Amino acid sequence: MASVETMRTPTAGDNSVQAFDVERVRADFPVLQQSVHGKPLTYLDSGASAQKPKAVLEAMDEVYRTCYANVHRGAYYFSQHLTDRYESVRTKVAGLLNAASDQEIVFTRNVTEAINLVAHSFGNSLSAGDEVIISEMEHHANIVPWQLLRDRVGINLKVVPIADDGSFRLDAYESMLGPRTRLVAITHTSNVLGTVTPMKEIIRLAHKAGALVLVDGAQAVVHSKVDVRDLDADFYAFTGHKLYGPTAIGALYAKAELLKEMPPFLGGGDMIRSVSFAETTYADPPHRFEAGTPPIVEAIGLGAAIDYVNGIGMEAISAHEAGLLAYATERLSAVEGLTIYGRAKEKAAIVSFTLDGIHPHDIGTIVDREGVAIRVGHHCAQPLMERFCVPATARASMGLYNTTDDIDVLVRALEKVKELFG
Ligand code: ALA
Repeated sequence: MASVETMRTPTAGDNSVQAFDVERVRADFPVLQQSVHGKPLTYLDSGASAQKPKAVLEAMDEVYRTCYANVHRGAYYFSQHLTDRYESVRTKVAGLLNAASDQEIVFTRNVTEAINLVAHSFGNSLSAGDEVIISEMEHHANIVPWQLLRDRVGINLKVVPIADDGSFRLDAYESMLGPRTRLVAITHTSNVLGTVTPMKEIIRLAHKAGALVLVDGAQAVVHSKVDVRDLDADFYAFTGHKLYGPTAIGALYAKAELLKEMPPFLGGGDMIRSVSFAETTYADPPHRFEAGTPPIVEAIGLGAAIDYVNGIGMEAISAHEAGLLAYATERLSAVEGLTIYGRAKEKAAIVSFTLDGIHPHDIGTIVDREGVAIRVGHHCAQPLMERFCVPATARASMGLYNTTDDIDVLVRALEKVKELFG
């Protein structure tokens, strides 16, 4: 079988896709050289968290070793130096998303925090009877904050159904939009099904109805180029640890005019203009939303991760992963008794599946003995599991360092699972 790398090598004159040398990429990730249970590691869980290239590890190490200080606070050299570097990452994030200004980028711990921020700072302005629309394929991070808002202010939460192939039901969505719809909060790419939602159309229809749109981009920014201005997204959230960066750093993009009107989410140091016991006034965005000492070194790591991904090129990464997805779908479909969940036409390199009569947790445990790391369970999407009438699935999620060999190892491990279960 031809390798993805061969299949996807750009043709002469095709400038849209840069050459992609997956072996060179793999050499950048020290953890991929490890063995597990005496077998070479086959890492297929980047959807949960991606591995980190040396460039990220070294950037963070360099800061701790040579110039660590708190930011926004010191009159001394290290503090000012690191403040400049920290703020320059905001510019890199704005570039990653094509935001109009770095003032539209709020650093958060992760997507969960970003969505909670919007649910409080924007959501608290909603009234009883206002509507928020989500979909059946949302991660718990894009369900629970809206349920909490429902409990606080009495909004109605509406849920767009999805089709049997896992695609977004645009027709059902359109019929749900109405004069009370204030916000639509939908994933750009499902963490379970891999479905890429028709976000531009979702946003166009929401705006036509007078509603704003928040996009959960956790699984989208890692697989394809995102342009918040082209999408016309009002809010867009992503996290660093799935983008080959460190944990505990992510970002919320929000249009400047929205941020300007929004009250703070968390209160504390660094988000104020002045404080007295009688009254506190707040800093302008984005700092209004960044209380306390931020994840400074993690932000530097995120900047290094963005540079790393840009250095390879998102078009090249997308093309590589499209090849991997096609290969994985073909190979896994050929395994007898295996069912794939999510066969939408627009799909990222994520494949969820079950094996007849074998619990996904058993699959996960047995393939681990072969060095294969996949996620099993409900993937923080219990309503979606209910939609497909399964308690759990196994999930292989691929990243820029995966190869067709990784898929072959997974398929061989699954054959062992089947043998063991007779
Ligand atoms: N949201 C992450 C996942 O899908 C943790 O695995």
